[in-house]
Amino acid sequence: MEKKNYFETEAIRRQMEHTQYHEHTAPIFMTSSFVFDDAEHARALFADEVGGNIYTRFSNPNTNELIDKIAWMEGAEDGFAVATGMSAVFTSLASFLRSGDHILVSKSVFGSTLQVVTNILPRWGIEYSLADVAKPETWESLIRKNTKMIMVETPSNPALDLIDLEWLGALANRHGVLLNVDNCFATPYLQNPLKWGAHIVTHSATKFMDGQGRTLGGMIVGSKELIKEVRFFARHSGPAMSPFNAWMLSKSLETLAVRMDRHCSNAMELAKRLQKNPEVELVKYPFLESHPNYALAKKQMKQGGAIVTFLVKGGVERGRKFLNALEMASHTANLGDCRTIATHPASTTHSKLSEEDRLSVGILPGLIRVSVGLEHIEDIVSEIENALQKSK
Ligand SMILES: Cc1ncc(COP(=O)(O)O)c(C=O)c1O
Repeated sequence: MEKKNYFETEAIRRQMEHTQYHEHTAPIFMTSSFVFDDAEHARALFADEVGGNIYTRFSNPNTNELIDKIAWMEGAEDGFAVATGMSAVFTSLASFLRSGDHILVSKSVFGSTLQVVTNILPRWGIEYSLADVAKPETWESLIRKNTKMIMVETPSNPALDLIDLEWLGALANRHGVLLNVDNCFATPYLQNPLKWGAHIVTHSATKFMDGQGRTLGGMIVGSKELIKEVRFFARHSGPAMSPFNAWMLSKSLETLAVRMDRHCSNAMELAKRLQKNPEVELVKYPFLESHPNYALAKKQMKQGGAIVTFLVKGGVERGRKFLNALEMASHTANLGDCRTIATHPASTTHSKLSEEDRLSVGILPGLIRVSVGLEHIEDIVSEIENALQKSK
């Protein structure tokens, strides 16, 4: 019978070569550097004439294993592992943008990404424009002669807006600009942006890739040619991931598919039940028919993901009361954990934005974001329903 290389199998079986100790599980190479056979070997390694590890800021067997796995999952040729999702975002920008370049960024991206683009890159003369996901017809006119990159997130955090990757990939290619997609919410199990025309994919591995709220991590994948630029920048600027974190993340990815299947079925069920709740004005979930981008979600995502957002009646005050009424769900600044997490963006993560800016990216006063965990679905539903009742 033909072997198919299914996602689940590769996620488990892709592993570094066994050492002379014949261990079953990959060991952790907690070493800062690697020894050379002799002077000639050292020279050849530094001259890139032979492959091999020199120093863990450049590469390490554990980060190599993780890169190989995630690159395979995304359909990419190569990648680079970094310490956090934000270092992945920053490295993916700084590796390609030069003073005088312009970047077009979706308004609906993670807050720190927006800070990097609007407050940090301009220090080095890199210009930006922000594009509205609700108005795709305006994007082309925002591309300038000096535009080097388009950066988006889909689905976005926290508004769950979707962008048509096939359309955007074609637009980017027509103008000869790089399309950089933060695929953190979907994970490579649910969506592969490179397949639709993206050139670079970034990840916060902190979220579903780890899946248990233990470690930070980031990944950038793309073609060999593009990752060569990333590797040059990262090798010399130093955002490398720790071998221990790479080991842990590689182990976590062995269960990514089964975890995502359950995250998604729990999220879908919670979304459907919330639609019937009189205390809720609106529920947003990519695989609900009522989502404005339902058809697109079905086209470019395998399932709807683990994040459900809803509007609780009563605005900011009710949102805060709702959070205080939670008993099981965690109130913490993370997502992608096997434990259900609820947050109220308007009074926390996005409280520093003006009301107008919040509204422009879909953050309404009563918006609650739930990262649906892996607890029993009935416990998750009753937890949210009870908190809605108590916060009335
Ligand atoms: C979409 C997205 N990208 C990037 C990040 C940053 O990741 P990290 O916290 O690992 O730096 C986050 C964190 O919440 C995120 O949600």
